[in-house]
Amino acid sequence: MVQVDGNNDRKYFFLISSLAEEKREKGEIRLSSSDLGNMWGVSQQSASRFIIEMEKKGLISRNISNKCQEIEIQEKGMDLLYDVYGVLSEILEKERTIEVVGKVKSGLGEGRYYVSKKPYVTQFTEKLGIIPYPGTLNIKIDPEYESTLRQIRGRKGIMIEGFSSDDRTYGAVKAFKCKIKDIDCALIFPYRSIYRDVMEIISSDYLREKLNLKDDDTVKVEFTFKK
Ligand code: CDP
Repeated sequence: MVQVDGNNDRKYFFLISSLAEEKREKGEIRLSSSDLGNMWGVSQQSASRFIIEMEKKGLISRNISNKCQEIEIQEKGMDLLYDVYGVLSEILEKERTIEVVGKVKSGLGEGRYYVSKKPYVTQFTEKLGIIPYPGTLNIKIDPEYESTLRQIRGRKGIMIEGFSSDDRTYGAVKAFKCKIKDIDCALIFPYRSIYRDVMEIISSDYLREKLNLKDDDTVKVEFTFKK
């Protein structure tokens, strides 16, 4: 099995997905350990152990009162669901084009620094066919594309390895080829990061100039996933 983010939390998928279903049906997750045991087909003791494990891993949080506990799925737990969603899409779907729409934003000027690092440049060139313009075009996605972006993020993508230099480490990056209009680009995510509603796009072209973009302009980014 592919370990997308190098963790082994995926074994909790079934448990988290059933909690998410409960939340969707009832609007909250208020269940005792024996309710959970029944739901998962395990003993009350096992259910309670799983809950404690998932809480320690930051997948869920809970508020305990009397015999009941109110459970919330945390951001990391949602990431796990999208991670599996991405894997299932890869396994089950044929070729598919997905689009994500958002608005151009300025960042803190950090993209230029990272993207220019030689080991990244070499890999972007070899693995993506992009000799990157130094920087990332930031696109804040429209809220209705959140689920789509999280699903893309859960896919395998192209691995850009991390490295050490100047006494620090630069993390691995997951990249997805994409197009804006007809220009070849790639969406990049740091592997070890929580989900953000901003896409960071690299390209050989200076996109602001090439596409005449300014802050708050709407951009459509297209991803084609092949079998
Ligand atoms: O963090 P910030 O967006 O301010 O800057 P950056 O990542 O250092 O990128 C420098 C500038 O180039 C920004 O205005 C980006 O939006 C833009 N850019 C672009 O137009 N095309 C690219 N392929 C990469 C960055």
